Amino acid sequence: MPNSVTITDNRTGQSVEIPIINDGVAVDEWKKLLPGIWFYDPGLMTTAICESSITYIDGDKGILRYRGYPIEKLAEQSTYLEVAYLLLKGELPTSQEYDVWVKDVTRHTFIHENVRKRFLDGFHYDAHPMGMLVSAVAALSTFYSDAKDIFNSESRWKQITRLIAKMPTLAAAAHRFSVGMPYVYPDNSLSFTANFLSMMWKTAEPRFDANPALARALDILFILHADHEQNCSTTAMRTVGSAHADPYSACSAACAALYGPRHGGANEAVIRMLQDIHTMDNVEDFIKSVKDGHGRLQGFGHRIYKSYDPRARIIKQTAEEVFEITGKNPLLDIALKLEEVALSDPYFLDRHLYPNVDFYSGIIYQAMGFPLEIFPVLFALARTSGWLAHWIELLDQDSKIIRPRQLYTGKDIREYIPIDQR
Ligand code: ACO
Repeated sequence: MPNSVTITDNRTGQSVEIPIINDGVAVDEWKKLLPGIWFYDPGLMTTAICESSITYIDGDKGILRYRGYPIEKLAEQSTYLEVAYLLLKGELPTSQEYDVWVKDVTRHTFIHENVRKRFLDGFHYDAHPMGMLVSAVAALSTFYSDAKDIFNSESRWKQITRLIAKMPTLAAAAHRFSVGMPYVYPDNSLSFTANFLSMMWKTAEPRFDANPALARALDILFILHADHEQNCSTTAMRTVGSAHADPYSACSAACAALYGPRHGGANEAVIRMLQDIHTMDNVEDFIKSVKDGHGRLQGFGHRIYKSYDPRARIIKQTAEEVFEITGKNPLLDIALKLEEVALSDPYFLDRHLYPNVDFYSGIIYQAMGFPLEIFPVLFALARTSGWLAHWIELLDQDSKIIRPRQLYTGKDIREYIPIDQR
């Protein structure tokens, strides 16, 4: 059987056979047969906007792999910085390459004093930390004018190192500002996540030593959030990157997309939902109300995963390790009961609605002391490596500027009537 589709234009009787390659059909042949006829695909639900070799997802089987490595293995054995290197370079580093990479990232953790003093301090006292992050990341492009040299591989790698290194510093600074605490400078003797926790929580002590198990749990959460192929923020990164903007501007656009509650805000919505449910006794009634169409079960369902999100499984396990140190988040029991009730109900099973990555991540973040407003900031920090991997891939592919078409449904040409005659 030929691995192709044949399309016939019934107006002319002309046909074209288009091969199916990598589960997709290229538009070139279609364009030859039907110039000026566009695919109508709101939300780009059936459009592949690029070829990519970074992340593989099989949503039906619950498979997620970075550069071919199963997410379970990476979460178990790797570190966030190693995974970032893998995403960016395509291969796991040798131990020598890893040492150089960690050293380079560590060397770039400081931000320019003007970013901190003049820029961050200029925000309104109750600024949302994610809004601050979006602006601060964009502002970095004005500090590094060499960032515009996007086809110079040395400059490109320098900006990538800077972004990976400075995101935790900016994220922690945005938090400290929002709670009126003095900023904490990076401590370059600490690991990536231990340093981030120090910048978040250090008060009067000369050195903040994070609990290693909590630093490791955060590292795992960062690994799980590092990439997820063409989601909304990654597509924003690619779209702005396709105009050849510098990586800080493109990354800021990606952060802005993640700021939206439909994308980066789901774990916060889960916490609010669990707080509203309040006790385990209310779980059955809550599930009934969801089935009756009153709202959604937050943290359930996914556009791609139609079985258990593999990241949710790992997070559930990590949660137990975190709670041994922090004490159990009281919302956990409600979450577990919700999962149990939902997964024995045909409404959820028939619609393939299973816990996604956000169902348990917020509960862990909350137990670790992170305020709700910082959740999307944590997501952005981790996703920066994925965004940048897609940015490199896009530039290396010599891709076209992303410029989709629309189906115009507005008015036909009209006579302009001067304002005094309307
Ligand atoms: N609770 C109850 N019902 C749901 C849920 C849910 N969480 N999700 C989907 N459904 C139902 C819909 O009502 C619909 O039912 P119907 O066929 O009877 O009309 C059916 O399942 C299909 O839903 P769609 O909205 O078409 O599914 P889609 O793939 O477009 O949506 C989404 C995926 C947005 C994630 C959705 O499942 C949802 O809103 N979940 C809750 C929010 C959430 O957890 N978001 C985080 C996603 S992960 C991330 O971004 C990192």
